Amino acid sequence: MMWRGTGGMAEQRQNGTGPEIETTHVIRPLLGLLRPLWLMSGVAIVSISIFALANLGRPIVIQRAIDDGIIEGNADAIVMASIWFFILGIIIYIVQAISTYVVTWVGQQVLRTLRMRLFSHYQRLSMSFFDKENSGRLVARMTADMNALSDVLNSGFLMIVQALFLLIGAIILLFLLSWQLTLISLIILPPLVIATMIFRVYSERAYDAVRDRIADVMIHMQENFAGMRVVQAFAREHHNEQQFDRINERNYEANLRTVRISSMYIPFIEWLGGAGIAIILYFGAGAVFGIDVSVGTIAAFVFYLNFIFQPIQQLSQVYDMIQSGFSALKKIFGLLEIEPDVKEAQSPAPLSLPVQGRIDLDEVTFGYAPELPVLEDVNVKIASGQRLVLVGPTGAGKSTLAKLMMRFYDPGVGSVLLDGQDLRKLSFKDLRRSVIMVPQEGFLFSGTIRENIMFGRPDATEEEMIQACRSLGVNPFIEALPEGYDTAVSYRGSRLSAGEKQVVSISRAFLANPPVLILDEATSSMDPGTEAIVESAIRTATEGRTSIVIAHRLSTAEHAERILVVNDGRIVEDGSHAELVNAGNYYTSLYDRWIQHDRKPG
Ligand SMILES: Nc1ncnc2c1ncn2[C@@H]1O[C@H](COP(=O)(O)OP(=O)(O)OP(=O)(O)O)[C@@H](O)[C@H]1O
Ligand SMILES: [Mg+2]
Repeated sequence: MMWRGTGGMAEQRQNGTGPEIETTHVIRPLLGLLRPLWLMSGVAIVSISIFALANLGRPIVIQRAIDDGIIEGNADAIVMASIWFFILGIIIYIVQAISTYVVTWVGQQVLRTLRMRLFSHYQRLSMSFFDKENSGRLVARMTADMNALSDVLNSGFLMIVQALFLLIGAIILLFLLSWQLTLISLIILPPLVIATMIFRVYSERAYDAVRDRIADVMIHMQENFAGMRVVQAFAREHHNEQQFDRINERNYEANLRTVRISSMYIPFIEWLGGAGIAIILYFGAGAVFGIDVSVGTIAAFVFYLNFIFQPIQQLSQVYDMIQSGFSALKKIFGLLEIEPDVKEAQSPAPLSLPVQGRIDLDEVTFGYAPELPVLEDVNVKIASGQRLVLVGPTGAGKSTLAKLMMRFYDPGVGSVLLDGQDLRKLSFKDLRRSVIMVPQEGFLFSGTIRENIMFGRPDATEEEMIQACRSLGVNPFIEALPEGYDTAVSYRGSRLSAGEKQVVSISRAFLANPPVLILDEATSSMDPGTEAIVESAIRTATEGRTSIVIAHRLSTAEHAERILVVNDGRIVEDGSHAELVNAGNYYTSLYDRWIQHDRKPG
């Protein structure tokens, strides 16, 4: 099949076009998707075969009508021919209805499975993947690429299979009617094949480019919407419009390139079809080279030639669609082939219950990029039930340390252990149940505050949820919101203030009740009232369990059992507040500064 590609076509792509696989690698996963649908796929193939056979029968009926009926003057033969024509029409009607429905059904099943698979796959991928990948592009794979595929599966695929059946059938029948005339008319085949091959190479490239440009448009839009506040605050609308204009123009150019290529190819195929008929008339009717065929055969020949050219023309018309669909499939399967960096152990080690919550960092060295270490040779032992506070300048590696304890990343050197077990050996289920983090930039899902808190433990009852908020002392605070627990949190929680968001994030983690709680304080400042509520909530939430609080306000550190000072990827100080405040090192200067400038009265 000419549109399948030969592999080796996947060019080296420029930066930021996403993962890519070779054309041939698409076939196998595609067949894998069709395997469970074999019955309906079989019905589709059978109905399309009958459709092709019935169509191919029509020129034979016409040949008989001309040769036996009109030329021989046999009225019965003409009546028979018209009855046959009528019957063939009904058959075509029925099988076309069946095949259209079945093929679309199969296509939609494939799409549904693929969409689900892609979504689940995204969820399994590691943080390192989302650091690199743009969410706009991931959305494009789910939307624009899926739509391109949907077009193919809805109409393109049916047209192709029909066209191919007709094409092959017509060639066989032509040979049976007159192999000499067929051989002569096949002169047009080499230019047809060559033109199609050239077209294929150029258009594949052009369509891959179109897919990438569509993703660029989406990326830009998504980023703009997400950052609309910043855009407007800095009056960057005009600048962004210009930038979008350039991206949009590249998208437009990529599309035009595909049109330029098709506009050369399709008319050429049309012309070749005409040339074919001219050849048949000249050699067949003119009895050149002693080719002697009946009038009916010449008529049948012209019809069959149509069955060759019409499908090829159709194929080249849906070629656009097929190319888009294939590019889309390559991108989607390319994504599906990506393995998560942080993999779950094949046979996880059991975690003895109850979980003690002992965390050890053993000679940990880690960098987001291997050549750029963010943490170097970190050794920390956190005892079960210890309340630990991390402080340090911005960019020191505090959040990174927390993410390693969550196993969002694996350390390059050394290991992180929970109750003496390497995190890499634990099942995700055990790990996620044992260690929970309130991230620095808390995320609230669209929905109500109640739903966001319940996210921590979906099986909790309403009473348990409210009891948790009461214990934290945030219940009055939430009830004071316009609709209390039913207050809607819009997308990304932009309707709530930073303090409100933190209260919800902490309640969510507290409800989950993990043996180890990591709390990365938000850097955004809050009014003193809210700050007091958050601080008291943090104190309650960390009680009776191992906790690691990353403090941006020293009021949080002041009462801590143990403080670690992180600077430039290393632990530089380790001790209680009383010990460190007089040590005359980094913590002392930090504390002095805080006392002088930041400490809130009271
Ligand atoms: N996802 C990431 N990809 C690449 N580099 C990162 C990533 N996250 C953080 N970094 C880099 O790692 C270093 C440590 O970052 P980290 O977020 O751990 O600092 P931090 O101590 O939490 O700072 P802050 O007090 O501002 O929250 C910084 O240089 C930062 O730029
Ligand atoms: Mg941080």
